[in-house]
Amino acid sequence: MKEATVYPVPAHYAEQSLLNEQQYLELYRRSIEDNEGFWREQGQRLDWIKPFTQVKNTSFDKDDLHIRWYEDGTLNVAANCLDRHLAEHADSNAILWVGDEPGQSREISYRELHREVCQFANGLKSLGVKKGDVVTIYLPMIPQAAAAMLACARIGAMHSVVFAGFSPEALAGRMDDGHSRIVITANAGKRGGRSVVLKENVDRAIELCKETTVEKAVVVDYTDDQVNMVPGRDVDYATLLAEQSDDCPAEEMSAEDPLFILYTSGSTGKPKGVLHTSGGYLTYASLTHEYVFDYRRGERFWCAADIGWVTGHSYIIYGPLANGATTVMYEGVPNYPDVSRVASIIDEHQIDVLYIAPTAIRALMAEGDKPTAGADLSSLRLLGTVGEPINPEAWRWYHDHFGRGRCPIVDTWWQTETGAALLTPLPGATALKPGSATRPFFGIRPALVDNEGNVLEGAAEGNLVLLDSWPGQMRTVFGDHQRFIDTYFSTFNGMYFTGDGARRDEDGYYWITGRVDDVLNVSGHRMGTAELESALVAHPAVAEAAVVGFPHDIKGQGIYIYVTLNSDRQPSEEMHRTLRDWLRSEIGPIATPDVIQWAPGLPKTRSGKIMRRILRKIAADEVDQLGDISTLADPSVVAELIARHEALA
Ligand code: WT7
Repeated sequence: MKEATVYPVPAHYAEQSLLNEQQYLELYRRSIEDNEGFWREQGQRLDWIKPFTQVKNTSFDKDDLHIRWYEDGTLNVAANCLDRHLAEHADSNAILWVGDEPGQSREISYRELHREVCQFANGLKSLGVKKGDVVTIYLPMIPQAAAAMLACARIGAMHSVVFAGFSPEALAGRMDDGHSRIVITANAGKRGGRSVVLKENVDRAIELCKETTVEKAVVVDYTDDQVNMVPGRDVDYATLLAEQSDDCPAEEMSAEDPLFILYTSGSTGKPKGVLHTSGGYLTYASLTHEYVFDYRRGERFWCAADIGWVTGHSYIIYGPLANGATTVMYEGVPNYPDVSRVASIIDEHQIDVLYIAPTAIRALMAEGDKPTAGADLSSLRLLGTVGEPINPEAWRWYHDHFGRGRCPIVDTWWQTETGAALLTPLPGATALKPGSATRPFFGIRPALVDNEGNVLEGAAEGNLVLLDSWPGQMRTVFGDHQRFIDTYFSTFNGMYFTGDGARRDEDGYYWITGRVDDVLNVSGHRMGTAELESALVAHPAVAEAAVVGFPHDIKGQGIYIYVTLNSDRQPSEEMHRTLRDWLRSEIGPIATPDVIQWAPGLPKTRSGKIMRRILRKIAADEVDQLGDISTLADPSVVAELIARHEALA
């Protein structure tokens, strides 16, 4: 392995940051040796209604699995994100909203956001929403999305945010699973200059729901689009709020009461509702936001994610707002109206921190100097990345072009399940190696194990697991606790299995090598191959399908599909389009396949299991590394698949 270039902590960072390297090492050691004492102290960052006395009550033993933090304390998450800032910071900006079209922006103070959240919370109550109900949020990136999440938190309802790019089918599946009886949406959204039909999708999704009857749809009248409002069911957001008082006492919630569910794909079955609770999640989101980004009040913090993903939950909404930050909420995409958009937003609004996915960086990098040329980026203090491994070339481009060679980059590794960052540099404490998520955050005990679960010491490569709990950890799969145990705690005894592989170098730095299960990471979004395959075989033309990822310059991984058609169907351009559109409508545009290859047969073992390893190698053009294919029921299909793959190129 070639020795990686090391970027030392810049001198001014070591002096001015919350922590330097020695302080990190000391505090990290303490956080492990006196884990409970450390988390007892950190729990004090929140305002509790009834202070906790118990800190930690957790076990990763699958026969006695339980994860509870601060369990006898009570609090309200929305009050921690809003009310407690009002005494001294009511007029500072909570949200800096930047619209899809250049020139549009809006500042919303903590006072204003608090007022809107209280009115909306009262509005939800007037519609019959109660503590413990699941409220689906299907909104574009507009301030009402933040208000909706916090209004739920204020009254103790769980929100279930569904990315506005998901199809009606995908939305319905999530509403069904959550037994959600109310959905909050907008007439339409705007993204990259295009209108996104949201209300129409909601109407369709409500029809498709089988397990739940959606009784109310609150609709933000956002664009000029006219939509059909169903009397008695559909409620206009502004009309609803106009009738409400802005006085709404925050519900007293137990630390372990659910805050939200968020669906994510796994290696099997339909998406899982990852459930996060209140006290521990907010403690962890707030703590990591402060230390990972070395955050100081008054700075403008831009996490360029969507609230439909966990990154948006933790680093657009909960972490920053708990810390009284100004969070930037950008409605659009990084390359609209042109590739200089990200830099011009930073320039125009004097942004301090930019946190963005490697896929966006690679897409901009393809444009050379254009994305940052001429922009004043001197306001930037720090850069971050999240969602997938970043290749060193893209890291250096980001460092040189956005960072002008002077801003450190925090490459944060985490998952929907982990709530917030677990492996990450701290800007004043960690020398950086491009491509490495470096070292564990406080209280986090990562380990590498071989396939038998033996813990590997020193420099090693293996499966990434976590040996102990942390407050931001998910608590269950909504409605299916057994699936939680099976997915995360049954592979390796007494350990949380991440599904990722990683390497640890001689300095103890971690390098994520990617998923070791059948999960793809396409442009930083997780997609289960099983989910794609079951959508495909649901199409009447398809007999069988297998989906694998392959290396893709911009997306990280692309979607490669092998399809066997029913014998009465013929491969054609038209069939290709049909299946592509089918996946887009069953799941959403993020499921658009990059390659569809017709497969007369699939490589299977004698017991009928598809050998994806072979399909992955063919898709990646690595046919010289197929390995042993003698255990296949019919080895001849491999040659046929290779020939067809080569014909595609
Ligand atoms: C998976 C989790 C973290 C929030 C957004 C994605 C991959 C995430 C990194 C990183 C390498 C990363 C992992 C992980 N991943 N961050 N910094 N370096 N890989 O959340 O959709 O739950 O996906 O994303 O494979 O398991 P998610």
